[in-house]
Amino acid sequence: MALIKKEVVDQIILQADIVEVVGDFVSLKKKGQNMWACCPFHHEKSPSFSVAPNKGIYKCFGCGKAGNSVQFIMDVEGTSYVEALKYLAKKYSIDIEEDQSPAAVQAQNERDSLYILSDFAKKYYVNALHKNDEGQSIGAPYFKQRGLSAATIQKFELGYSLDSWDDFTKAALEKGFLLKYLEETGLTIVKQEEGKQYDRFRGRVMFPIQNVSGRTIGFGARTLKTNDKKSPKYVNSPESPIYHKSDVLYGMYQAKQSIRQEDNCYLVEGYLDVLSLHQGSIENVVASSGTSLTENQIKLIGRYTKNITVLYDGDPAGIKASLRGIDLILEGGLNVNVVLFPDGDDPDSYIRKVGDTAFKDYLEKNSRDFISFKAELFAQEAKDNPVKKAEAIREMVVSIAKIPDAIKRSVFLQQCSLQFGIDEQVLISEYNKIHLTEQKNSRSQPSQGSSYGNSPASYAPGSFEEMAAEAEAAAAAEAAMYEDEGAPEADQSNVLRVREREVIRFILNYADKEVEEGLTASQFMLGELEDIEFKTPIYKKLFDLCRLKLEQGFMPTASEFMQHEEKEIRTEVVDLLSEKYELSKGWATHEIIVPHESDLVSYGSEREVLRLKWRNVQLMIKEQMDTLPRLKEAQELDKTLRTIKALKEFEKQIADLLGIVVSR
Ligand code: GTP
Ligand code: MN
Repeated sequence: MALIKKEVVDQIILQADIVEVVGDFVSLKKKGQNMWACCPFHHEKSPSFSVAPNKGIYKCFGCGKAGNSVQFIMDVEGTSYVEALKYLAKKYSIDIEEDQSPAAVQAQNERDSLYILSDFAKKYYVNALHKNDEGQSIGAPYFKQRGLSAATIQKFELGYSLDSWDDFTKAALEKGFLLKYLEETGLTIVKQEEGKQYDRFRGRVMFPIQNVSGRTIGFGARTLKTNDKKSPKYVNSPESPIYHKSDVLYGMYQAKQSIRQEDNCYLVEGYLDVLSLHQGSIENVVASSGTSLTENQIKLIGRYTKNITVLYDGDPAGIKASLRGIDLILEGGLNVNVVLFPDGDDPDSYIRKVGDTAFKDYLEKNSRDFISFKAELFAQEAKDNPVKKAEAIREMVVSIAKIPDAIKRSVFLQQCSLQFGIDEQVLISEYNKIHLTEQKNSRSQPSQGSSYGNSPASYAPGSFEEMAAEAEAAAAAEAAMYEDEGAPEADQSNVLRVREREVIRFILNYADKEVEEGLTASQFMLGELEDIEFKTPIYKKLFDLCRLKLEQGFMPTASEFMQHEEKEIRTEVVDLLSEKYELSKGWATHEIIVPHESDLVSYGSEREVLRLKWRNVQLMIKEQMDTLPRLKEAQELDKTLRTIKALKEFEKQIADLLGIVVSR
């Protein structure tokens, strides 16, 4: 595998300037010693992605991705280590002298040979389109008839395969490519028994399929015969070591920049849809190539944007069939919009019919949120038919349950209840049932858990009634906990220690999560607790460290302290971190439709702040009361009594606030 010499690797790493490398993908702004941007690996509104020029590294305090220039290219382009090195070598014009030792040559990996062969094939087909008589008289007119410009043909490196048995195979063998590789890429079909070999692609227009870094990995080939029922409309390359269909989206290489800029990705079905939209200067478009989307394809899009707009041609059967695939997008945490085209039109035919401007206009006017689109689709059908209506509601709730974000979920449930004209509680109860079933399933098959890391936190009961009863019991238990005034001294200080611990735990776990736009949980909590003196030494220490981090422009997440020089701090942080998904007693249990703790960040941070303040005020009252017997002067006594009264007032205010939160 080692194709690049060690010295050259060192030179690449030395020369690759992290700011320049990252700057090609996101726009960095200087703040303090470091540069900041919104993270290219996860969706966020305020920048938590930082680059430290002097250290040559990047780190996202939101999603945790970190590394040097090479790692960044691997992450952002999804390439291997060697490919990332080659990318950087090219950027910095560093000559990669490949290791020519026999062992290295022998080990020259197969993948590279397959890439080189695919590139040769692409050029061969391009050449056949432009330079060959058959290509000129048959291939080129077809593209013209489909309305494709020379620029589009060039940009996507479209080609033509001659209508001959083995024209390509012969040319490739003559060039020295091994038959083994021709077979492996599927460019040549070998019939062992008959001792025959022939071209897979014959007499077709060729669409090279590229990976995200622009390397050709396979082909789609369309027949020119419009009404030939015998041969398939498209013939595609088979899976190969360099072409994994489920990981690839057609057009991603040409689209990625625009997807990032527009913060949206249009998803179409066909090669020609991609090409026509590009030609109409809509470049943020990729095709699933007629199959349903896979998890990896969704993740691929998710690297560039969290917003997908699915463009449907107006065939109702097709729409219904693809609805399930969209649930997978929702599950990936992406926002889905849909645009429906008039019956009989697909994006390609429609843009050619109405023109670029009207097409863009159409997209804007007709883009709608997937859930309400689906609800409408089903609501119409279910009208006046109670059985269908029940089915439809279930359908809707199944989709909504896939959305990892709790706030979005509740908004959609509300919206759905309006659309179907049914009580929201009914939907919530249905949601809880579905959610519970899924949870049971994922528990019995732990290995099949969602790879998105959003596996729901557990909460027990199934029906809404049970949930309500449970919430009530929990509220009562918490109220009882607040009435422990008569508790012995030791318990009092323990109560305070627990509250301080919970505050720190909350900050370390959710430091960078927003409680509202532009305000993170740590900023909010540290600000709120500015005047509070922590009593437990270790939590005081951690609280001060968090404040220091914030002042230095970092989010005080747990990972910031994992390497701390003091063992006591490391141990405590790991302890606190290991409780990440254990819902804090008392506040999470009240939520019915919000099963993720992370969704409760704003609720929880506010609550933890209040609870600590409340305990602190109580302690202050007690301290003041303790001084009373020792006061001799009436003036002093009066002053202290007034202080106590004010503190008691404050205590009541907080209790009221907590009460409001409790009964919310
Ligand atoms: P036109 O019909 O020429 O407009 O092509 P299109 O790219 O729009 O194709 P269509 O909408 O019919 O199909 C969408 C996608 O499904 C195509 O781009 C192909 O990727 C895939 N597809 C369509 N027909 C076939 C087929 O016969 N075999 C295979 N393997 N894939 C197909
Ligand atoms: Mn089409």
